[in-house]
Amino acid sequence: MKILDLSAGHRHIWFNTKHPLVTFLDRRPEVKPDIVCDTRHLPAEVGSGFDLIVFDPPHENCGPNGNMARNYGHSTRADIYDTIEGSAKEAYRVGKATTLMAFKWNDCGISLKKVIPLLEASGWEPLFGHGFPKPGRHKSETTWVMLMRRADELAGGGE
Ligand SMILES: C[S@@+](CC[C@H](N)C(=O)[O-])C[C@H]1O[C@@H](n2cnc3c(N)ncnc32)[C@H](O)[C@@H]1O
Repeated sequence: MKILDLSAGHRHIWFNTKHPLVTFLDRRPEVKPDIVCDTRHLPAEVGSGFDLIVFDPPHENCGPNGNMARNYGHSTRADIYDTIEGSAKEAYRVGKATTLMAFKWNDCGISLKKVIPLLEASGWEPLFGHGFPKPGRHKSETTWVMLMRRADELAGGGE
């Protein structure tokens, strides 16, 4: 079993933050990932053939200062869209036919409806999850969505 966490941060989502089957990536050296990189361009040392991709990208432009930026880094909205699309493409490339992706999202700034197409365009098919929040709801929601790597060659590679 090979697992790739594309956006490790402080690994708050993990029960075992040092799980031996996981390769932790992040562009911020201060969070001490296994490999520091921009996940839009995965270096060769990341490897390939992952069974599970875990993707918890930035979801909000919270400004460059403050607690949110300290914990999760700072990204502009354009950066967020580009990171989701580019990283999903790279995840497709280093995946294999049976790879699954667990995608985490909070819709406080950008709705899940807007980001799912970015994943689809990069070769990932949403299977199930918390679904789209109901209209008229005011609270932001954190959701997990499970996706599978489509069999076609959208991203041009992989096993
Ligand atoms: C929402 S936080 C992840 C939180 C983490 N999953 C946790 O449990 O603590 C998003 C992370 O993605 C990283 N990130 C943002 N853009 C990136 C990129 N283009 N390449 C690599 N890492 C990126 C940020 O540095 C940040 O740590």
